[in-house]
Amino acid sequence: MKILVIGGGGREHALVWKLRSSPLVEQLYCVPGNAGISQEAVCRPGDILSPSAMAALAEEVDADFTVVGPEAPLVAGIVDEFHARNLAILGPTRAAAQLEGSKVFAKQFLRDHGIPTAEFAVLESPEDVAANIDRFGFPVVLKADGLAAGKGVLILREAAEARAAAEQMLAGKVVGEAGHRAVLERFLPGEEVSFIVLSDGERYYALPPTQDHKAVYDDDQGPNTGGMGAYCNYAILSDEQRSEILARIVEPTLEAMRRQGCPYQGFLYFGLMMTGDGPHVLEFNVRLGDPETQPLLFRLDSDLLPLLEGAARGRLPDSAPDGAMAWLPGPTVCVVMASAGYPGSYATGKEIFGIDQAESLGAKVFHAGTKFADGRLVTAGGRVLGVTATGEDLPTTIDNAYAAVARVRFEGMHYRRDIGVKGLRRISAAFPEQGRSS
Ligand code: AMP
Ligand code: GLY
Repeated sequence: MKILVIGGGGREHALVWKLRSSPLVEQLYCVPGNAGISQEAVCRPGDILSPSAMAALAEEVDADFTVVGPEAPLVAGIVDEFHARNLAILGPTRAAAQLEGSKVFAKQFLRDHGIPTAEFAVLESPEDVAANIDRFGFPVVLKADGLAAGKGVLILREAAEARAAAEQMLAGKVVGEAGHRAVLERFLPGEEVSFIVLSDGERYYALPPTQDHKAVYDDDQGPNTGGMGAYCNYAILSDEQRSEILARIVEPTLEAMRRQGCPYQGFLYFGLMMTGDGPHVLEFNVRLGDPETQPLLFRLDSDLLPLLEGAARGRLPDSAPDGAMAWLPGPTVCVVMASAGYPGSYATGKEIFGIDQAESLGAKVFHAGTKFADGRLVTAGGRVLGVTATGEDLPTTIDNAYAAVARVRFEGMHYRRDIGVKGLRRISAAFPEQGRSS
């Protein structure tokens, strides 16, 4: 089969890498791709935000199936366009993608269906700001309604600061149009977990839990980024927590989408806060996470293609070994290596060295912001690489990932030194005597 992957970051490199190992795949295309992807697939330029341009590209390369990485094409209606042209694609329709495309839609959906989430108010005017700003105590969380590339959520410590931020957001001065409506919600303390499922509209598979590390510096200090690293380990959740997430959050969400005439097909990412009062939904993403995908797919033992195609056809395969998702036994860790200055402004064009040495240790280096310039591999984005490794338990896996990171270098590179450390703390707290760790 010929497969088209849409996107050009670390998540898409992991998708391409995993799909390439499928015996069913003859040819892989990616738009726009990056340097790493170009070594594993044919990269094509194109406007990924234009559903008609993407459908035309799928027709031109004669793609049998298309996989979408980022949210923006889904929110723009790429799936509806492909369906109208009878082209096979996996992902939610534009209507279903509102779960990520509008925070107001997502919060009202959660409230209407009794799915646990922080209390909230919708802000549309300065009067709404004045009436609600004190309602949830402080700190309080302010979220732009629309897509804002990770910059639409602010945590505000006191009333004057919150009021000013909310007024500015509604005036379009924080994230432009995306902030003309906003959600104000109660701050929930706890630990975050990324919980992703693959749904065919009726049935679903739950992927193992992962944790992202959003802050730029160790110990969750500094400004938020797109994600500085992630790890995948079953011990992130106890069996009870996992059952509660499925019963109180995942199943009611998928059921409600069906009842609204909008059955959800594709990956659905539940950004959860594990509070003292159980799991709560912070956000939905209508796609795989980045960087969560890198440790997840590095660990996936099954052929990915029949799973994706099955979900798109409304029939997830149901029996192992061909059907159910099988996972390799060890945990996985992905450390993101970023450009100097990221998540603020950063320079690009720095030559990258050492990837072969890192991979000779058994790691996989997924590319995010990279390109070839005059035959040299250089940086081309804020997040540059995702160095991904496995091992027999979490401590070994972390060591393996950082041993590979130590082989890579480019000017100004920085990365967190504590990816997965939360997991070590949890193992010693939750399983003191046996150290269950994968
Ligand atoms: P979101 O895009 O809604 O997931 O928000 C981005 C980040 O803001 C989350 O990953 C959390 O770290 C933080 N956040 C969002 N909502 C809340 C909340 N209600 N309480 C505490 N932290 C939150
Ligand atoms: N890692 C967070 C996200 O993909 O949105």
